[in-house]
Amino acid sequence: MAKYTIDFQPVGRRVECSEQETVLDCARRSGIGINSICGGVGTCNACRVQIVSGKISKPTDIESGVFSPEELKAGWRLACQTHIPGDCRIYIPPESMTTPQRLQVEGLEISVIPKPTVATYDVQIDAPSLSDLRADAERLLKSLNHQYNLRCRQIDQSVLHTLSPQLRSEQWHCQVAVRGNEIIYVNKAGSRCLGLAVDIGTTKIAGYLLDLSNGKVLVSRGLMNPQISYGEDVISRLTQSMISEESGKQLQSLLVESLNQMAAGMCSEVGAKVTDIVEAVAVGNTAMHHLFLGLPVRQLAVSPFVPVITSALDIKARELNLKFAPGVYVHLLPNIAGFVGADHVAALLSTGMRETKDTSLLIDIGTNTEISLVKKGRITAVSCASGPAFEGGHIKYGMRAASGAIERLRIEGNAVHLQTIDNVPPVGICGSGILDAMAQLYLAGIIDKTGKMTDNYPRVRNGQKQREFVLAENPEIVVTQQDIRELQLAKAAIRTGIQALLNAHHCTDDDVRQVIIAGAFGSYIDVSSAIAIGMLPSLPLDRFHQVGNAAGAGAKLSLISLSQRNLAQKIAENVHYLELAGTPDFMRLFTEANYLGRYRLEDSRRRYLD
Ligand code: FES
Repeated sequence: MAKYTIDFQPVGRRVECSEQETVLDCARRSGIGINSICGGVGTCNACRVQIVSGKISKPTDIESGVFSPEELKAGWRLACQTHIPGDCRIYIPPESMTTPQRLQVEGLEISVIPKPTVATYDVQIDAPSLSDLRADAERLLKSLNHQYNLRCRQIDQSVLHTLSPQLRSEQWHCQVAVRGNEIIYVNKAGSRCLGLAVDIGTTKIAGYLLDLSNGKVLVSRGLMNPQISYGEDVISRLTQSMISEESGKQLQSLLVESLNQMAAGMCSEVGAKVTDIVEAVAVGNTAMHHLFLGLPVRQLAVSPFVPVITSALDIKARELNLKFAPGVYVHLLPNIAGFVGADHVAALLSTGMRETKDTSLLIDIGTNTEISLVKKGRITAVSCASGPAFEGGHIKYGMRAASGAIERLRIEGNAVHLQTIDNVPPVGICGSGILDAMAQLYLAGIIDKTGKMTDNYPRVRNGQKQREFVLAENPEIVVTQQDIRELQLAKAAIRTGIQALLNAHHCTDDDVRQVIIAGAFGSYIDVSSAIAIGMLPSLPLDRFHQVGNAAGAGAKLSLISLSQRNLAQKIAENVHYLELAGTPDFMRLFTEANYLGRYRLEDSRRRYLD
C-alpha cells in the first residue's frame, strides 16, 4: 500500500498516511486536533482544510455542495471526505482546530509618557453663509489651527473625498486626526483614538491595540502567519515569492488580509471601529518587512543578501490595502541588514540595551536567530541560520508549540517523565522539549559529546535507518540520531554567533553580565538545558532573563512615543552588523560549537568546564 507524507500546518507535524485513510483519520491517529462535530460523516463542515501543495483528490459530491468552484480550485476540502493521492501540505485554519496554537504576545511592559505621532482634536467649524464663502477644506484648517494654535496645512486627499458631506452631517463639529502638519482623518467628535502595533514574525504575528490617549494596551492578539503554508522559514518564503509576481502578491495579500481581520476583531472586542485606528507600527524581520510591502526579495535571498531599504518608512494604509481610514499611516521601523530586521531594532529598544552599562547579550531565537552584544554603548549584531529545528522542523516527531506537544522532559533511570502542552497525551515534540531531550540524553550518557547515540540503553533501539530513543510508546514518539544532528547544527549556529560577537569585542563569557533571551521560543526554554548542550555560555542562571516578545514591546513603544521612535532610528543607525560567515575562524568555531557540554570557546577551541 502506497504511503505518503502529509505536512500539517500550522502545527508543523509531518505524518505518514495511506491513500485509504481520510485526512481526518490520519490527523486523529496522530493526535492532531481537527474539529469533527458530526464525527466525520460530512454534515457539519467543521473540518475544513486547505491543501496548499501536492496532489488534490477530486472533490466528493458533499465537498462540491459545501465549497464554491473557486474554493475547490484553491484546495479547500473537508478533512473527513478527502483522501491523499501523494505527498502534500495541508493548512488547518484556526476555526478547524480543536485547540489553538500557543501564541505568545506578552513581553516587557515599559511605561513611557504617551506622545504619539498622531493627535486628535475635536473641532467646531463655522458653517458657510453668503457672507462666508470659504471652501470646506480651508474652513476646517482655519478652525483647527485657530482653536488649537496649530500650523496644519495639508489634508489627505481621501479626506477631501468625504469632507463636505461629512461636515454637514456632523453639523460642523467633528474630530480631526493630525499627523505632523497633515489632517489624515476626520471622524465623529468624541471618537476614540486608537493605534495598532504589530510584530510580524515568520511563524507568528502578535498584534496590540492601544489607546493612544493614555498609551494603554486594550487588546493583545496572536495568530499564525498565514504565509506559513507556503514555507516554514524565511528562505522558503522568499523562494516562493520569487516564483512569479503573482506569488509575491499572494504572500502579501495573505498577510494583509490577516492583519485586517486581526484589527477588526480587536476593535470589535472594545466596541470600536477599525477606522478608529489612526496610526499603526509594524516590525518584522527584513524578509517579512519586504513581503509585507511587496518589495522585490531576490537580492535578499542571494549573497551578499542586501535589502531594498533599511531606513524607517511611513506608508499610507490604503497603499497596503489595510482597512484603516485611508489617510492613516503605517510606520515601519528601520532594518539593520538583510537578516537583522526591524524586529531586532524593536527588541533592542524595549530592552534598553543601548543604555545598559553592563556588557550584555540580546538573543532572539527563531529559524533565524539574531544576536546583539552591547559593550560600553557599542552594539554589534549577527544573524545565525539556526534553521527550523526549534520550531519542530526537520525533526521526525517535531511540531510547533500546540496542544499535545512535549514541552518538558526529564530522564530518570529508565523512566522518561514528559510534560505536554495542555497536559494531554503526547502528539509530538516542540522546541523546548527537543532542547530538554538533547540535554537529558547527554546528561544521562545516552549521547556523547559528539552527539553519537549509544546502543547500550534500554530505550535505545535500531530503527529502520538509524538509532533512536523511545520517548513515548503509545502513540510512539522517538528522538532519532538524525534529530540530534539537526539540533547540533541549530545550537552550534547560535553558539558560534555568540562567540563571534565576544571575539569582535575582545571579551570572554565571564564579561557578559546579562543575557536577555527574547521571543516566544526563548521564553519557554529551560536555560540550564541550553547551557548543558553548549548552546549558551555557562554563566550563573541569574544572569539570564527571558523577556517574551521584546519586538512587540518595542513596536508598542514606537507607537505611543515619538521620542522612542526616533531612538529606534538611532539604534538602527549605530548597530554594527557583523557578517558571520566572513568572521575569522568561522568554520572552526562552528565545528567546535557542534560539540555538547559546558565549555568555553577560547582561541576557537573548546575548554570543558566539567
Ligand atoms: Fe463533519 Fe467533516 S467532520 S463535515
